[in-house]
Amino acid sequence: MTNNLFLDAAFSKATERPPVWMMRQAGRFMPQYWEIKNKYSFLEMCKTPEIAADVTMLPVDLLDIDAAILFSDILVTGEAMGGELSFTQGVGPKFANPVRSAVDIDRLETDVTDRLQYVADAIQVIQQRLNGRIPLIGFAGAPFTVMSYLIEGGSSKDFKLTKLFLHNQPELAHRLLAKIAKVTTDYLNMQIAAGVNALQLFDSWALSLSWDDYREFSHLYNQQIIAGLNRTNLPVISFCKGSSVFAPMMAEAKPDVISVDWNADLLQVKQALPAGIAVQGNLDPHILYADKPVIKKYILRLFERMRGEKGFIFNLGHGIMPDIPFDHVKYAIDLVKDYRY
Ligand code: CP3
Repeated sequence: MTNNLFLDAAFSKATERPPVWMMRQAGRFMPQYWEIKNKYSFLEMCKTPEIAADVTMLPVDLLDIDAAILFSDILVTGEAMGGELSFTQGVGPKFANPVRSAVDIDRLETDVTDRLQYVADAIQVIQQRLNGRIPLIGFAGAPFTVMSYLIEGGSSKDFKLTKLFLHNQPELAHRLLAKIAKVTTDYLNMQIAAGVNALQLFDSWALSLSWDDYREFSHLYNQQIIAGLNRTNLPVISFCKGSSVFAPMMAEAKPDVISVDWNADLLQVKQALPAGIAVQGNLDPHILYADKPVIKKYILRLFERMRGEKGFIFNLGHGIMPDIPFDHVKYAIDLVKDYRY
């Protein structure tokens, strides 16, 4: 690998500066993304390896980041299991056949890696194009977050149906979570076999859960997935909104990195973790709307806080919003790259 910053920091080794990549770095804030998006649907983009590779490479070529992330979506596992998935502009993801009963759960399939072969194919095309310059991060959705889309049938503000389901019918919820966890483990191992250099597990909506429910309905499945990965020399990043609360429990699953939202003081989170677990984060993405001197002030403050810490990957606390100016994203990334510990 020509640029080892990301992998070194992920394994808590010393680096000359923090590596930088951003969640949703290949997306709608880029005019070049729209040139592709205007020709294909989102799922066509994900399922055509050459197009998925083109989109993955946009931030590599235009922003010069330290790690690429596969262009796909967390909901492709739900689709492979039998969910009728669509993405509509302004509406977001939809499953036309939500999962709400034992029959619905039993109908979901779990030997589905063949249906996700397009992702392995995309990984191979991307690795040819990256040609060893920077690492490629693969990913999947964590069972609780994927379950929430399957039950709600789409995005939700309060996860009312999902939480009602796991409170009133915990056995059924566990049956569903176990199926998703099996598919997710196979899927991530397929990504490893296809050549990714790191993995991130996205449990975006775990924040909605109480401490005990998080353990029972999210953490235990994430732990099972992480334990089932063929992860020799391959760092695993555990992400959730809510990691500033759940980080001590997330650490029990033994990820290499915990990705932290912006509510927490990143140094305090890191210092409370067992040695050898790196942190990723945690700029509030809204800072990137602000004027450049403000962006600079917040980024330098984060750096000064983390100075001297091994195992810090610069990222946002969550993904880049579609209407953040491209120029501000570029400015933030260049600031990180000019910094020295
Ligand atoms: O980070 C990257 O650049 C890699 C690609 C990526 C996408 N989705 C592309 C995408 C990744 C890692 C994801 C993960 C994902 N997808 C998550 C977890 C991360 C997070 O943000 O918490 C979640 C919850 C989803 C589900 C999902 N997919 C939603 C809610 C939406 C709609 C979002 C919206 O604002 O409309 C998507 C669609 C999606 N996934 C887009 C992209 C680029 C937009 C599709 C479009 O162009 O219309």
